[in-house]
Amino acid sequence: MTANNLAGRRSAAIAKGVGVTTQIYAERAENAEIWDAQGQRYIDFAAGIAVVNTGHRHPRVIEAVKAQLDKFTHTCHQVVPYENYVALAERLNRLVPGDFAKKTVFVTTGAEAVENAVKMARAATGRQGVIAFNGAFHGRTFLGMALTGKVVPYKTGFGSLVGDVYRVPYPMELHGISVEQTLTALGQLFKADIEPSRVAAIILEPVQGEGGFYPAPPTLMKALREIADRYGIVLIADEIQTGFARTGKLFAMEHYDVVPDLTTVAKGLAGGFPLAGVVGRAEIVDAAQPGGLGGTFGGNPVAIAAAHAVLDVIEEEKLSERAIILGNRLKQRLNTLRARVPQIADVRGPGLMVAVEFNHADSWEPNPDFTAAVRLDALERNLILLTCGVHGNVIRFLPPLTIQDAVFNEALDRLEEALLNVAAREAI
Ligand SMILES: Cc1ncc(COP(=O)(O)O)c(C=O)c1O
Repeated sequence: MTANNLAGRRSAAIAKGVGVTTQIYAERAENAEIWDAQGQRYIDFAAGIAVVNTGHRHPRVIEAVKAQLDKFTHTCHQVVPYENYVALAERLNRLVPGDFAKKTVFVTTGAEAVENAVKMARAATGRQGVIAFNGAFHGRTFLGMALTGKVVPYKTGFGSLVGDVYRVPYPMELHGISVEQTLTALGQLFKADIEPSRVAAIILEPVQGEGGFYPAPPTLMKALREIADRYGIVLIADEIQTGFARTGKLFAMEHYDVVPDLTTVAKGLAGGFPLAGVVGRAEIVDAAQPGGLGGTFGGNPVAIAAAHAVLDVIEEEKLSERAIILGNRLKQRLNTLRARVPQIADVRGPGLMVAVEFNHADSWEPNPDFTAAVRLDALERNLILLTCGVHGNVIRFLPPLTIQDAVFNEALDRLEEALLNVAAREAI
């Protein structure tokens, strides 16, 4: 079957709403490399969107999964519970930031984790309102869409959304939005739209993912914590994309000196198996009545076994440190290219959650065309990259943290070639 045939079959058989950014049909994958059916090799700087932080098919993860497959694959934890679910909850309760008693629930997707965090906050506070940020991404369910701060393509055509969701600008110095402006907008929101005593939760990503890899400034995080404490609001950190050593710490909130009440986790938690969860203050998690949380597949035992192996690998292979080393190398290489690629407006991001933002060479206008061209040029050089950003003018780099030095260096060379090639084309 050729790739072209597959592309035709795909578009005939699969919903148009499931967009794809490449026409590579994966045949096999190992650590940071993917091969297609024609034997073409690609370097994977997407990691399934920050999922295989421990690489494709890490031997420890595969071994743990195989061992679990030989025992049982599904009982539904709500019917016949199992030990590895309990042990993973205990482990996350210890590891997630916050020096207080914590509890966990496992679900299957990130959007579901977000939904459940908000359900808990509403049940615990008896309030309705939820505050989120422009540029945020929290999933594709109805509440996820309502919390997400980008219309196209996430909300287009889907009608009225969940009510009592409010939004404020997210600070981005590069685009002239300061922390002070964000806090002023929050103050105005409390005056014009919803009194703080009706707000159940404030939710944010410590580093906005789909929104463009903008880290939340520490002053914002501190102010939000103070506001949450003052008004009895639950602070939710959505660590779905930032979690599991990606930013140079196990959780991005460890970069701040304040802690959230609830943390949502997914993506990197189980090395490619669908598993998500909410971890946080025991009294908030426990506000939901028995039966109010969970789901048929939530905390699938095979995914849980994979997650235990992922946490072991992160610790044993010191992947947080590795994220910092590789991220610094990548940022350094991008910064040295700034003189020859004037479209580079910013290089940023903690650990190996790195992004480069492109403007027009002669102005501060976002340059999504240049960004798309770089992604495509890199793809022709067999390097898989992802874009992001509200203006579509950011390339985000999410390679597995286990990537070998030689493969990483090869990818940086291809990236450099792509950037120089597209910049030269634009200069003509
Ligand atoms: C920060 C964040 N929250 C929530 C989600 C939704 O996760 P899922 O796609 O597993 O539903 C994502 C996915 O990209 C995300 O990055």
